[in-house]
Amino acid sequence: MKVYELPAFGLENLRIAERPDPEPGPGQVLVAVRAASLNYRDLMMVRGHYDPRMPLPLVPLSDGVGEVVAVGEGVERVEIGQRVLGAFTQGWIAGQATKAMRKTTLGGPLDGMLASHCLLSAEGVVPAPSHLSDAQAATLPCAGVTAWVALMDDGGLAPGQTVLVQGTGGVSIFALQLARLAGARVIATSSSDEKLARARELGAAATINYRSNEAWDKEVLSLTGGEGVDLVVEVGGAGTFAKALRCTRVGGRVATIGVLSGVKGEVDLIPILMSRLRVQGVFVGSRSHLEALCAAVSEAKLEPVVDRVFPFAEAPAAFEHMASGAHFGKIVVEVSA
Ligand SMILES: NC(=O)c1ccc[n+]([C@@H]2O[C@H](COP(=O)([O-])OP(=O)(O)OC[C@H]3O[C@@H](n4cnc5c(N)ncnc54)[C@H](OP(=O)(O)O)[C@@H]3O)[C@@H](O)[C@H]2O)c1
Repeated sequence: MKVYELPAFGLENLRIAERPDPEPGPGQVLVAVRAASLNYRDLMMVRGHYDPRMPLPLVPLSDGVGEVVAVGEGVERVEIGQRVLGAFTQGWIAGQATKAMRKTTLGGPLDGMLASHCLLSAEGVVPAPSHLSDAQAATLPCAGVTAWVALMDDGGLAPGQTVLVQGTGGVSIFALQLARLAGARVIATSSSDEKLARARELGAAATINYRSNEAWDKEVLSLTGGEGVDLVVEVGGAGTFAKALRCTRVGGRVATIGVLSGVKGEVDLIPILMSRLRVQGVFVGSRSHLEALCAAVSEAKLEPVVDRVFPFAEAPAAFEHMASGAHFGKIVVEVSA
């Protein structure tokens, strides 16, 4: 089989390699990958910024879709020929994760989906929604599930509530789409007016350019009658967290997801306690979260927003595209046509 492997950190080291065709062991399935998608985590992983002690070589990309071509001994929940998604955290089926489960993530430390074939746990796959193309389906396991958990599972979003989504990357555009599906009002931010226009087309009621308007938190307050939003999908991290706290309503929630502008900073505890805020960390989700997302996506015929699809031979360019920040929604690598 063909894989992209990373023998040393740095995008310049990402290379195509041949490995022996794998055979599924007991409880495993072999998936012929059709498409894989990028998350910001994958870029951090390749650069060595996610975990500099991550064992190498590594096959990158946590998210993908493919066809089951072989099953190992004892496998009954999956059939040959099924089109399946790999669950981000292979060993986290439902309920609360343990620290051991947290170590079963694809694309590091487990080999990921940027390969012609991938061995997955039979318990760690979910049928892909049938109305989606391979490129669209490949976007669901990390970004889609993260948005789902932030809004629905941990977030308890209700129709009529207001959600703030930051930027127009994979998680945020999923959050915009899912929040609209749930009947919520969405305020979106971006560094680009052109992207904000696209966010409005997807249903954002109000938009703010966080680059030209650094006081975007005050703008959010003014758009919510001075009260603040019910829920923030916080992907900015250290550079946005303080403002996110200030523009959340009393009793509101801040889903702490991303670290795009840094991981460490001072935290002012006053808004958290005065506004009775709930700050909820999100670590993607379990297989059952992915199943719940797939059910919602199937029922609503929701279509994930794919920015661009790169051929397998040009996978390094897909990482560069993500690093440029030019994308809107998801970036996909087509593995087999
Ligand atoms: N905890 C979890 O479970 C989890 C799961 C998935 C992702 N994440 C994290 O969430 C973040 C987003 O991931 P992703 O895959 O969606 O990334 P992505 O697709 O690469 O999105 C990046 C976009 O975020 C926006 N952005 C960048 N800096 C910003 C800032 N300071 N303030 C507001 N927006 C900013 C930009 O949008 P514009 O171009 O519109 O400005 C940029 O294009 C990453 O830090 C990732 O590691 C965490």
